[in-house]
Amino acid sequence: MLGPHAIEGYAIVSADGMIADGDGAMPDSIHNEADQRFLQAAMDRAAVIVHGRRSHEGGPRAANRKRLVVTRQVPALAADPSQPNASLWNPAGTSLAEAIGTLGVGPGPIAVIGGTSVFDLFLPLYDVFHLTRAARAKIPGGQPLFSAVSPTTTAEDVLIRYGLQPSPPRDIDTAAGITLTNFQRNQ
Ligand SMILES: NC(=O)c1ccc[n+]([C@@H]2O[C@H](COP(=O)([O-])OP(=O)(O)OC[C@H]3O[C@@H](n4cnc5c(N)ncnc54)[C@H](OP(=O)(O)O)[C@@H]3O)[C@@H](O)[C@H]2O)c1
Repeated sequence: MLGPHAIEGYAIVSADGMIADGDGAMPDSIHNEADQRFLQAAMDRAAVIVHGRRSHEGGPRAANRKRLVVTRQVPALAADPSQPNASLWNPAGTSLAEAIGTLGVGPGPIAVIGGTSVFDLFLPLYDVFHLTRAARAKIPGGQPLFSAVSPTTTAEDVLIRYGLQPSPPRDIDTAAGITLTNFQRNQ
């Protein structure tokens, strides 16, 4: 938690734990409408969304949402000249609490949506991680959810290592083989 805000991660991964291909693009095999509906509803409830420069949740309401764009291009914190509701944030220069304070956010979770290094940065902090898995997709040579994912370490292993425990997976699109597992931090 950060004050009243839970810290929640969101990702869709392939069976081998990848969020994108080797060029940083998301292949169709991990794009799913049920997951998109879930993500967009969660983003509407979030107080603020945190992501890197090449990651974005998209959708028709994106411009209304408060966001922090994680970057080393600013020393600490600056208004994002391309998005009125966004700030550019360098975690080495100022705290998350201070960055959020400048955005004047309302109630709701802090939603972390990637990419890999941003997901890594929040590993000690997640209260919940919402992990969608596309069981039929494989992305050899792809970009992993966390940098520690390897042929012998799954995304689930990493979350458990950081103190999060899975609830039973829920089918959100049975025909496409898409499941959603919520990992919760033990209180
Ligand atoms: N499947 C999924 O759920 C999912 C989720 C997220 C993303 N993706 C895909 O993954 C693709 C690639 O994502 P990505 O990880 O390469 O790009 P990204 O989201 O832009 O994150 C990397 C950037 O974040 C900044 N950054 C990361 N760690 C930082 C730190 N500790 N301090 C300061 N800045 C930091 C850097 O920005 P600067 O270069 O500006 O310094 C870095 O270039 C996206 O394009 C998207 O297609 C998929």
